[in-house]
Amino acid sequence: MKIAIASDHGGVNIREEIKSLMEEMGLEYEDFGCECGTSVDYPDYAVPVAEKVASGEFDRGILICGTGIGMSISANKVKGIRCALVHDVFSAKATREHNDSNMLAMGERVIGPGLAREIAKTWLGTEFEGGRHANRVGKITAYEDKQ
Ligand code: RB5
Repeated sequence: MKIAIASDHGGVNIREEIKSLMEEMGLEYEDFGCECGTSVDYPDYAVPVAEKVASGEFDRGILICGTGIGMSISANKVKGIRCALVHDVFSAKATREHNDSNMLAMGERVIGPGLAREIAKTWLGTEFEGGRHANRVGKITAYEDKQ
């Protein structure tokens, strides 16, 4: 599994934490910034990473900003992206099992690095359940296809 990861200036510490987790898990990843000493604009990072996941160049993406909200809103504008904003382990598991989320967003001003690591570990290690959930996800895709 190939993961694309990025953050704005508000998510640099959790980005580093998740990179070290992915190294421990033996996952291939690429870091798309930011190289931020100063403030940057989250859509400039969320959209290119979401496009890389939507195109199939990467299997999944992880985005971090201050709240996770700007990153998730931006990523979800890209067709084919189901970016889940998650701040608890239960939802990390549920969004993979039920929504087949292909991107994860978290907020560094909301949770600490330890919880972010557990969330990412759970999200990366959980499979989609399919079945009735595939039908529901299919309705999202059908709506996108009409746009
Ligand atoms: C940056 O100050 C902050 O707005 C950003 O990291 C994020 O929280 C936006 O949703």
